[in-house]
Order: sequence, then C-alpha cells, then structure tokens
Amino acid sequence: MKVLIIGVNGFIGSHISQRIMEDTDWEVFGMDLRDDKLGHVLGKPRFHFVEGDIAINKEWIEYHIKKCDVVLPLVAIATPKTYIEDPLAVFQLDFEENLKIIRQCVQYRKRVIFPSTSEVYGMCTDACFDEDTSNFVLGPIKKQRWIYSCSKQLLDRVIWAYGEQGALDFTLIRPFNWIGPRLDSLETAKEGSSRVVTQFIAALVYKEPIVLVDGGAQSRSFTYIDDGINALMRIIRNEGGKASGQIFNLGNPANNCTIKDLAEKLLKLFQNHPDHRNDEGFSKIIIQDAKSFYGESYQDIYTRVPSIEKAKKLLAWEPRVGLDDALQRTLNAFLEEL
Ligand code: UGA
Repeated sequence: MKVLIIGVNGFIGSHISQRIMEDTDWEVFGMDLRDDKLGHVLGKPRFHFVEGDIAINKEWIEYHIKKCDVVLPLVAIATPKTYIEDPLAVFQLDFEENLKIIRQCVQYRKRVIFPSTSEVYGMCTDACFDEDTSNFVLGPIKKQRWIYSCSKQLLDRVIWAYGEQGALDFTLIRPFNWIGPRLDSLETAKEGSSRVVTQFIAALVYKEPIVLVDGGAQSRSFTYIDDGINALMRIIRNEGGKASGQIFNLGNPANNCTIKDLAEKLLKLFQNHPDHRNDEGFSKIIIQDAKSFYGESYQDIYTRVPSIEKAKKLLAWEPRVGLDDALQRTLNAFLEEL
C-alpha cells in the first residue's frame, strides 16, 4: 500500500509514519514544511519525504494523490490560541486548502481518511458525544474560537455528501485530546499557543506558573497517542471495508479529567522525576480568566466525553493507556528531548 500523508511532520503524522515503518511493508509519501519530528523515519527506504507547502506545491500533491492508495490530509491549525488570533488563517488552511485535496480524491477515486475533531461537538450537552446522533452547539459569530469547529464541520459535511453520492470512499476520525511525545512544542508554549499538556510541561520546565483558565473545572478525555494510532492503523487497513463511510470518535472516556486535576498530576510527576526531584523550587498553580488568557472571542467547552461504542464494534479497538501512565510517558519524552 502507498500512503500519502500531507502534514507528515505533525503530531499525528510523525507517529503514524513511525508505526507504518515498524509494522508494515507499506510506503509513505509525506510532505511538510519541516522534518524536525521525523528523525525516527527519515532515511528509511520506504519513507519518502519532501519539504513543501500545501498551498504552494500543488503539482506534487496532485501527482501523489494519483499515485497513492490512501490519502491522509493532516495539515491543519489545531491550537485554540490561533483560532482567536488568526481565524482567517484557520479557515484558509483547515477548510479551503483541504477542500482542494478532497476534490482531487473524488476526481482520482482515492480513499481519504480525514481528521475531523472532537471540537465539532462544541458545547454539546450530551453526557457522551455520539457520532451519529449528538447535536453540534457553537457560540455566536463574535466568539471566533468556533471558526475551527465550524470549518471542520463544513468539511465533514462536504465529505459526507460526496460519500452519499458514491463519489468518495472516506472515513472521518475525531480525535479527543490526543496527547504524547511531540504534541506541539515547548517553544510555542512560551507564547501560550501549545495545547494544554505541553503548555503545563513547559511551565514546569521553565519554572513559570501553571495557568488554570477560569479555575480549571472544565474537563477533557485525554487519549494516549499510541491508542489513537492503533485505531488509525485499523482504519487504514480497513478490513472488510468496515471503516468506509463511517465517522469514529477516537478517545478515552476513562481518562476524563478536569484541567485542575491534570495540573496537579503533572506537577506531582515532575516533582518525583529523578532529574528534578532536587530542584530548588517548582511552578505555582495559578488561576487566570479566559478573557485575559485567550482574548475576548474565546469560549470554552466544559465537558467533552466521547462515546466509543462504534469504534469498539466496527474496529474491535479500545484504548488501553490510563491517564497517569499517558502523562508519565509524555513528560518523560519531553524531558528526554530537552
Ligand atoms: C483542542 C484543539 O482545538 C484541537 O487540538 C483539537 O481538535 C481538540 O481540542 C482535541 O485535541 O480534541 P482544547 O481541548 O480546548 O481544544 O485545547 P487545549 O488548548 O488543550 O485546552 C484544553 C483546556 O485547558 C481548555 O479548557 C483550556 O482553557 C485549558 N487550558 C489551556 C488551561 O487551563 N491552561 C493552559 O495553559 C492552556
């Protein structure tokens, strides 16, 4: 199998490439702006990397869509701070550029696995979000945080419509707060634009305060990257065509945790880490309101728990890594990299 991964140097792209190299005889053709997360696969004969930009290197992309069997368009802005600071960039990249890829998959009859997001459910009030029955609840237009959710939702609907017409073989995946090594970077965390786990690890490393936005009572169902990749591999293999035409929540409901508990767990793990247990001082946990942390146009999601019944049934998959273990592995990886 030939797999095209656009955005191969991202968090998911780098992990799925590694797994494909380790567990299969498939070839990967990957494009990204940089290759700094690809040290473990660069140079392998079945891994072909080109430095490029989805908005510029269109011929390379079209040629490889024709050449490959399955396409993973993973390029997206996925950090909430950017939804607020540059909402049009989010729309242009996450929607407009990806729409072109989807249309080429239709044109050349290629299977696409597209990353939707847990964010499409927005502030849905269901205790557990279901792919096929839950409503999407977004805030008013001036709350620009929702441009990401809305862009992804619209593309989900476009993909679904092509699928219904019989013009596209697709699977939509909805990762729920996947965490692990290489999630964002400690550098972007300095500007406050990494996702929460990296943000907190950076605070611990640089002895800055850990900031709980609005007190940290909001929760997320954190999912360890290896579990997510196990599901994604089953979807790429698509045995019996079971993943075709489906939307899958890929998350770990057992790891649902408030942001305050997350901060306390990470602080404790850091304090017990052999390289840091003798440090002179540790980060304080402080509270900041969302308006001053993110800006006026932010709005939060208070609970976000996936139903994973469909993935269990159709993919025979379930997540296995508990939260404490996932955080320990993530922290260790970031500290090792430093
Ligand atoms: C994320 C992003 O939108 C996407 O990465 C993705 O599609 C999706 O959700 C997902 O990973 O499933 P969110 O969970 O809000 O959104 O992103 P984080 O930046 O990780 O924030 C999680 C929570 O922690 C939010 O309530 C936020 O207010 C809080 N937070 C964040 C803090 O309390 N302190 C911080 O320093 C950063």
